[in-house]
Amino acid sequence: MPQTIVLEWMPKLKPIAFSPPDIREEDIDAVADVLRSGWITTGPRTREFEIELAQLSGTSDCVAMASATAAMAAALRVLGVGPGDEVIVPAYTYTASASVVHHVGARAVLVDTPGPTPHLTAEQVVGAITSRTKAVIAVDLAGIPAPYRPIFEAVEARRSDFRPAGEAQEALGRIAVVADAAHSVGAIGPDGQPVGSLADFTCYSFHAVKNLATAEGGAITWRRAEDMGFESDDLYRTVRRDSLHGQTKDALSKSKGGSWDYDILDLAQKANMTDVQAALGVSQLGRLSDMLHRRRDMLRRYAEMFASTDLRLMDHFSEGVSSAHLAMAFLPEPNQERRDGIILRLADRGVATNVHYKPLTLMTAYRNLGWSPVSTPHAVAAFEREITLPLHTLLTDEDIDRVGLMLLEEMSRS
Ligand SMILES: Cc1ncc(COP(=O)(O)O)c(C=O)c1O
Repeated sequence: MPQTIVLEWMPKLKPIAFSPPDIREEDIDAVADVLRSGWITTGPRTREFEIELAQLSGTSDCVAMASATAAMAAALRVLGVGPGDEVIVPAYTYTASASVVHHVGARAVLVDTPGPTPHLTAEQVVGAITSRTKAVIAVDLAGIPAPYRPIFEAVEARRSDFRPAGEAQEALGRIAVVADAAHSVGAIGPDGQPVGSLADFTCYSFHAVKNLATAEGGAITWRRAEDMGFESDDLYRTVRRDSLHGQTKDALSKSKGGSWDYDILDLAQKANMTDVQAALGVSQLGRLSDMLHRRRDMLRRYAEMFASTDLRLMDHFSEGVSSAHLAMAFLPEPNQERRDGIILRLADRGVATNVHYKPLTLMTAYRNLGWSPVSTPHAVAAFEREITLPLHTLLTDEDIDRVGLMLLEEMSRS
């Protein structure tokens, strides 16, 4: 009897959530310790998390923040990107990759994806560079590092027509490369370098659905500060201050007897990470490597099931080591109605799926800025084919099989 019919007759099975957090007793204990400690906002746990993240990233330092969004805006501010500047961003991403450009007063230039793989390529970067371009934000989609080496080659090749605005840009002397690494903490690039060391600045997200979750949270790290024209210690202090009102002392230092006095150096944002979140982060970092292994195993299992079908799973295994954040699957043809029907029928059968991404050129806020889906036809076609399958460390192999079989069943029905 074909497997499709077997599933139909199975008793009602437990629902499969899309991406619940994997919180263990050790995480709860770590958070409870902070709550009992007498200090709950930015403090020793946050610093410990920063140091461990920098080690994982192969970088000298890191600033933990409230979100990847805040971290990317901080990178752009440190680089002196502002009004009159342009930043190249793929249209096939979450709004945060592009909205941060507008948060600092610059303009995001949305570029199409090259075709079946929705990663930004160097060719697209080159095609979008103008005399106003100050940075590229590449996205490590699904946990696969973006092609940084060719992107660096592309921006190096345009060094001579780079027009710096301000000291930071002058010191760098070329278009900056920022990694939106919201999906890719723990991943490794094709040359064996960890994510964190691949771009000038790298921004992580620890949002509740991410591989490493602190409920909300993010971090920013950077490759050798001196190579970018910054003093290493200065860069840490500048970015930290940018997340704390531009204040010269954090709350912990100010709370020490007699140390109340401080200055405000910039009109900065408030986007620091708390020790409560950092405790969750440190605790989860301890098992990140195991969690990523498990995620990759599950992706392989999906890949084996789909190998002889016309469903194409995004390739996580040809280059480098992916953090296996998202199981993005593509139907053979762009057909939004069919895709949405499959999603609804899977939901009826207890399986939650998702879509990554509805291109920014389809979103109202970006259309109001003059963008049109017509300018990103490949991104729109990829979106119309895409279904993201559940992938998290609470799933069993049997759950993966069930999702895969149900998906193939629903595809054969529509
Ligand atoms: C690609 C991408 N970039 C940025 C973000 C924003 O992360 P955060 O919520 O930590 O600001 C997300 C969040 O989902 C994302 O998927």
